[in-house]
Amino acid sequence: MVEDNLSADAVTKDLGTRFIGQRVLYYPSVASTMDIARQEAQQGAAEGTVIIADEQTGGRGRLKRAWLTPKGNIALSVILYPDLSYLPSLIMLASLAVIHSIEAVTGLKSQVKWPNDVLINGKKVCGILIESDVRGNTVNYIIIGIGINVNLRLADFPEIQPVATSLSDELGGEVSHLNVIRHLLVKIERLYLDMSAGGSLYEEWRDSLVTVGKKVRVTAGETIYDGVAESVARDGSLLLRGLDGNLTRIVAGDVTLGD
Ligand code: BTN
Repeated sequence: MVEDNLSADAVTKDLGTRFIGQRVLYYPSVASTMDIARQEAQQGAAEGTVIIADEQTGGRGRLKRAWLTPKGNIALSVILYPDLSYLPSLIMLASLAVIHSIEAVTGLKSQVKWPNDVLINGKKVCGILIESDVRGNTVNYIIIGIGINVNLRLADFPEIQPVATSLSDELGGEVSHLNVIRHLLVKIERLYLDMSAGGSLYEEWRDSLVTVGKKVRVTAGETIYDGVAESVARDGSLLLRGLDGNLTRIVAGDVTLGD
């Protein structure tokens, strides 16, 4: 058993960041870290404030799906106030930060399934949810929510076992979620500062995608697209070559990978 008690101090101590994770609100159990983050952001919380929970009882994912966070896993939300022009890059930033941290702590290689799931050996290990309050050209706040299955025993959750995995199941041993969280916050800050200094995350994100070159089915609202994922654009949208040969740009959707 990894000795790994989460607390705000344990996360922040000697973290070495300028602002991400310098203020941490830790909760043993909450409905969703996204709700707390939203309240905090509305009250003008410092940029980089992180809400972390040991357990979520009402965790949520994209497309109104539920997200499971029993104890021993990672549920966190980061508050940012970026310029509007950086919004498309934040999806890239979050998934790249997750991939790097997983590899740094466990040595495991992971990949991104467009737009922002992280997979290991084809199964989902992390989900990312970005919520924002944008009015016209003004970004009031952005919240990046990250859920990582760290010590989830998939055998205990047969309903998601065919499609999900965890770091501990992949490694065959428990992993320090505190260590993963600290790496993640450091990496988020580095990428955020790079991006703000004009660096591009696009190339690395594109090259991390498991989706490109694959047959896919994309569900976007009521519409289903079948085809081959040909590429991704710099704004993060997916370029899909349909069965009729036409290229469609898809901004948001849910992908099922084919062969
Ligand atoms: C998805 O895969 O659909 C996104 C899942 C996002 C889950 C995280 S866990 C931390 C934060 N709090 C939530 O309720 N959701 C996000």
